[in-house]
Amino acid sequence: MASGWTPQGLDEFQIADGEAYHRALYLDGDISRPAGWHRDSVNHLLDLAIPHINEGSLVVDYGAGTGGSAIELLKVLDEKGISIELVLIDPLESWFGKAREILHERNDVHFELSITQDKSGRTVFRELDEMLAGRKADVIISSSTLHLVPISALEDLAHQISGSLKTGGIFVWDSGDVESALRPKDVSCLHDPYRSVREYLRDDDARQSLLSKMAAEDAERSEKRIDRIFPVPFSIEILMRAISSAGLLSRISDHVVEFANEDAERFILVPRLAEIAAPLMQGEERNSAIRHAIKEVLAEMRKAGTASDSAYRSYWVYGFHIKP
Ligand SMILES: C[S@@+](CC[C@H](N)C(=O)[O-])C[C@H]1O[C@@H](n2cnc3c(N)ncnc32)[C@H](O)[C@@H]1O
Repeated sequence: MASGWTPQGLDEFQIADGEAYHRALYLDGDISRPAGWHRDSVNHLLDLAIPHINEGSLVVDYGAGTGGSAIELLKVLDEKGISIELVLIDPLESWFGKAREILHERNDVHFELSITQDKSGRTVFRELDEMLAGRKADVIISSSTLHLVPISALEDLAHQISGSLKTGGIFVWDSGDVESALRPKDVSCLHDPYRSVREYLRDDDARQSLLSKMAAEDAERSEKRIDRIFPVPFSIEILMRAISSAGLLSRISDHVVEFANEDAERFILVPRLAEIAAPLMQGEERNSAIRHAIKEVLAEMRKAGTASDSAYRSYWVYGFHIKP
């Protein structure tokens, strides 16, 4: 049995949310059938990390979500007959609960929920060192997560990661949603289509009518929250500066990953992400507005040259860092 955090009292929305994100990564939720974009994006990260993982290694997946990166990592290690200790870390109970459900039978997996409440009841992130009980990792991976960390928290996180690696330990991450001057003109950021869906629906009549019925400050708060679901990407330099400040040596590579139209629709209909169309009612009202918007957005991307008939192209950056 896996150890550590277990979900408690998840409501219907949270369970559906975890299930939907899992199905956005795996066709029909079948872990032997990863969606093309998930397989292609995470494979390169694994190519960088696996050569540094040995029998008995302590490996951390920072931002494990529903387990997408961990599942792919374990597939490769199982195939090679390498046993490790894998610590999964994430703040989002709905998605992390799904990871626990999928991986609960494995003795080699440990779960740490990365948020807690401080003395005044505020939700705060836990320190990596505390979550690892002071142990040092051989390898830390972080897939599709760092672009969600606020810029103001990046430097501290990089120091925590460096502090939780053994000497010679490795930190490998990927992100499809950081700005880079190296991104080709016919390739977009991973979340560009979803930011465009948000813009497409911003002035939608039904949405505006619902917002106008809310108290002004509630409507404003709701709009701000929605804008944070797909934050404007920061530049790769900001991330690299934060990581270098923690004394890690760096190598960067990149990859273009095709994201199929049907996968894009499945992705943006994940309940927590579909909140970009709130306050349209959860369910059919919200989903049909999003389905229409994503079709229009993908058509625009085809005209702009960042998508083909079947997929849009997303630009992924990979960081490989050694603790000297
Ligand atoms: C796109 S998911 C990636 C999950 C998994 N690594 C995968 O490849 O499928 C990003 C994860 O980052 C977590 N996350 C969001 N904001 C975060 C933050 N500020 N610090 C750490 N993790 C965060 C989310 O809860 C989410 O599970």
